[in-house]
Amino acid sequence: HRFSSADLRGLVDEDHARNRFRVHRSALTDPAVLEIERQRIFDRCWLYLGHESELAGPGSFVARTINHRPLIFVRDGEGRIRAFFNVCPHRGALVCRERAGKAKSFQCAYHGWTFSNAGRLIGQPGKEAYPDGFNADGAYDLPEVPRLEVCHGFVFINYDAAAEPLDVYLGGAKFYLELIALQGAAGMEIVGGTQEYSARANWKLLLENSADGYHAPTAHASYFDYLSDRDGDAYKNRKFSYNKAFGQVLDLGNGHAVSESQGAIPWGRPVARWVPGWGEEAQADIDRIRVELVERLGPEKAEMVAERDYNLLIFPNLAVLNIMAVTVRTFYPVAPDYFEVRAWAMAPKGEPEAVKDRRLRNFLEFLGPGGFATPDDVEMLELCQQGYQASIGAPWNDLSKGMFREAEYAAKQDELQMRTFWRQWRDMMAAEERIAFREAG
Ligand code: FES
Ligand code: FE
Repeated sequence: HRFSSADLRGLVDEDHARNRFRVHRSALTDPAVLEIERQRIFDRCWLYLGHESELAGPGSFVARTINHRPLIFVRDGEGRIRAFFNVCPHRGALVCRERAGKAKSFQCAYHGWTFSNAGRLIGQPGKEAYPDGFNADGAYDLPEVPRLEVCHGFVFINYDAAAEPLDVYLGGAKFYLELIALQGAAGMEIVGGTQEYSARANWKLLLENSADGYHAPTAHASYFDYLSDRDGDAYKNRKFSYNKAFGQVLDLGNGHAVSESQGAIPWGRPVARWVPGWGEEAQADIDRIRVELVERLGPEKAEMVAERDYNLLIFPNLAVLNIMAVTVRTFYPVAPDYFEVRAWAMAPKGEPEAVKDRRLRNFLEFLGPGGFATPDDVEMLELCQQGYQASIGAPWNDLSKGMFREAEYAAKQDELQMRTFWRQWRDMMAAEERIAFREAG
């Protein structure tokens, strides 16, 4: 490719003397950049594979593609969570053609080799043609993904066998995953299936957008109008204010960031509260949830679990939105100007139907693919990508807003979360060797 490490580093222009932080738009449009991202970012970072609740029991599996590599995410016969490359060691056919299910074994459709749900080759048609001791060394078993680790139920893989442990990689982000895991007395689960959608834009724009507090009042004006119409004064009393709300952005290390609020937000969610208008029954459910949280976690932690709303960004491409519902989304580039999203809703295991129903409506209303937020956001990202075609006239994106403040306090609209991402992106793209992730300090 035509980019040297210095060129790649130069795509992010961080100039403290000028309070300037800019990203060159070719980082969002150039196919050569995408090729390097696949190698230096997606093949070196911990990537979200799925949640352990998706694999209900031994043999449960989900076929999922992660950075272009088809995988089988499976719980083996002994209940262990594993990830195999979904490719036949014989002549390379995709082995598992179902999206999800339960299986003791997987049979390749081409010549019929069969693999156990622990990846072992357990059968080949015409076995008499094979020598004794064939596959004694396991070379014809399903190849396993080099690394798989779990944090609070969130399962990650790494294609780099020498990667640091997930724990080190996640750094300060772990705490925020824990606050979600603690919402349910029996843990959390992915609800129903997967939502899939796509946008004609660069994948990094969705990462930026997933914790962009600045765009909400304009891009999502229709949602706030809707809340105001529906809830009247009750809405005005809760109206989101950048000054009133506890809101801040934190750099969590290794490119991860969180944008969080506490109180004074206009929407409701199942743990903390419901928007006015849900009625007494909803209030009774909230009170019950709070009592249970305090009993289980003590008042301090219960308060954190109930009241903190946040958008968590885990480098490079996982957003966990703990706002009016809990959404997990991950997204991969197909081309520099096209990405595909997979998103899931999470809820406490065993949540009562009425609460789950409110959660679902709350989710669909805003975060769902047809809600108030997602179509607006997709449109904004596509407008950006279209704008980049004018790039000779304006080749840089500006992410400098509030830059001078970040040492002491970064408010939600200061764009620290984007700079945190881009600094890590720059360092990884410019490093030809694997770069080390830091222990959380
Ligand atoms: Fe799978 Fe031949 S390619 S059995
Ligand atoms: Fe948005």
